[in-house]
Order: sequence, then C-alpha cells, then structure tokens
Amino acid sequence: MEKKLEKAMNAQLTNEFYSAYLYLSMAAYFEFEGLTGFSHWMKMQHQEEFLHVRKFFDFINDRGSKIELDAIKKPQSTFTSIEDVFNKTLEHEVGVTKKINDLYALARELNDNSCCVFLQWFINEQVEEEKVTNDVLSRLKYAGNEPAGILMVDKELGARAAPSLTPEA
Ligand code: FEO
Repeated sequence: MEKKLEKAMNAQLTNEFYSAYLYLSMAAYFEFEGLTGFSHWMKMQHQEEFLHVRKFFDFINDRGSKIELDAIKKPQSTFTSIEDVFNKTLEHEVGVTKKINDLYALARELNDNSCCVFLQWFINEQVEEEKVTNDVLSRLKYAGNEPAGILMVDKELGARAAPSLTPEA
C-alpha cells in the first residue's frame, strides 16, 4: 500500500479500537444504572468493534504493510440519560461513516482496488450501524419516560445475539 494510505488505514484501525472502548464505557454506565439489557447491547457493540479492528489488522498485514498501533483516547464516561447515550452513539457512528468514506475516496484516488473492495464491506456495515442505533432511539421515543416502557426496551436489547467471533464473517 502507498504510505499515505497505510497511515490512514492504521489510523482507522485505532479509530475502531476507540469505538470498542467507547461502547465498553457506555456498557459500564448502564451497568451502574442497573440496566443490564442496555449494558448487554453495548457489550455486543463493543465485541463487534473488536472484529472491525481485526479486519483492518488482517488486511493491512495481508497487504505486506506495517501495522502501527496508536494510543486510544479516553472515552466519555458520564452520560445524562439513556437517550443521551444513544444520541452519542449515533453521532459517533455518523462520524465513523464519514471516516470510512474519506478512506474509500483516498483508496480510489490512489487506484488501490483491493483496498476499495475491502472498504466496501465497511461502507455497507455503516448503513447497518446507523440503522440499529436509530431503531433503539425510536423505541426509546415510544417508551417515553415510563419505567414499564424502558424496562421492556431493556429486556429486548438484552436479547441481542453475539456477533460472530471470526472477522471473516
Ligand atoms: Fe466500526 Fe461502529 O463501526
């Protein structure tokens, strides 16, 4: 890979680590609040981000480029409400979508076709990432501030299946 692209791909690998760290921080917030279903959902989100890290790790390595891990910044740890957490999640994922799109544009500019194909998976994944977060926000809107509604959403989110543990999936 060209150096400029290698650097940008490594930066995204670190960004994916940050996403995993952020969602673990959100899971910790929900644990503290006693909302085990919301916490479980965030733990699954955290696991998924680790798979994204592995995808970048394997691809950079497979291309014979150098992997360089960077520092991961401290994630936010205090939130004002359940909605606040999911609004921040959506904001974060929209930012990730932009980063992936910028990376794709760079790969295209450098005529790196295999990188474009690799990033295509992430472009599709980001549609899903934003959708699932919007779905939770919609459910929260219907639940309002009613404890019964919130606990129902908590139960539903607690049933989220674990992502496949292989980055090839
Ligand atoms: Fe790795 Fe949530 O995107």
